Amino acid sequence: MGVSDSLSLIIIQFEQLTALVASIGRLNGLAQALQVAGEPVQPQLEVISPAPLAVENLTLSTPDGQRRLIRNLSFKVFPGQHLLIGGTSGVGKSSLTRAIAGLWSVGSGTLYRPQRQDMLFLPQRPYLVLGSLRQQLLYPHADPTTDEATLRQVLQQVQLPQLANSDLDAVDDWAQRLSVGEQQRLAFARLLLQQPPYAVLDEATSALDEENETRLYGQLTNTATTFVSVGHRPSLVQYHRYILELGIHQTWRLAVATSD
Ligand SMILES: Nc1ncnc2c1ncn2[C@@H]1O[C@H](COP(=O)(O)OP(=O)(O)O)[C@@H](O)[C@H]1O
Ligand SMILES: [Mg+2]
Repeated sequence: MGVSDSLSLIIIQFEQLTALVASIGRLNGLAQALQVAGEPVQPQLEVISPAPLAVENLTLSTPDGQRRLIRNLSFKVFPGQHLLIGGTSGVGKSSLTRAIAGLWSVGSGTLYRPQRQDMLFLPQRPYLVLGSLRQQLLYPHADPTTDEATLRQVLQQVQLPQLANSDLDAVDDWAQRLSVGEQQRLAFARLLLQQPPYAVLDEATSALDEENETRLYGQLTNTATTFVSVGHRPSLVQYHRYILELGIHQTWRLAVATSD
């Protein structure tokens, strides 16, 4: 790869990072502006960590404070009791997962969360690091000395045979090169490799066909990871113990999952 290619790669990644930093900056800026104007500052979530994952009387609003998304939500995720979150588009599912990930703090109530390194967060559009396939797989918490055979095996497991047989140290612009479905499988490979105590999957398999999605979830349930998923396909229900349905007008309903 030439120098100019590498530069454009850096710039593309830099844009993603800048967008993230800018949106966090806007949140901080908003809080400061409200303080300066003498307006009441948006109430902030109380966060208790490290603790097993739970929310108590959680109320979430959009970052601009314009709209309340979720009201008085309480649930606990006991180890192995995986939770599936459903609800129509725009209802606040991703906002809830961002709150759990610690990226969203406009609201009230209490969030209990494990330590950051005990949780892996898989958004719908995976975050791919700049670097080699090996670095993708190891991001963010894997043991850097993981042997090559293990890395190749996990790529096979998520149905990425071409990548499994390629040079793991070749650097490429993976976000540009791979389809979203392939990126999602790569992110899932991280999950199967790292097997964190907790994982949050926000429509993390949405670009895959049902068969591939089912295969991945089947493998995930064979690990010790406790997961919270956002998803739509009825075929996902069987892999979860509870279903949280978010409704319009900030309603919610928690039920035991039954797949029939
Ligand atoms: N940064 C933001 N600023 C203002 N509104 C936002 C922001 N992020 C999301 N929203 C709004 O919050 C609502 C819930 O979004 P989201 O949680 O992504 O929904 P879902 O994942 O259920 O489709 C949407 O109406 C969305 O437009
Ligand atoms: Mg969403």
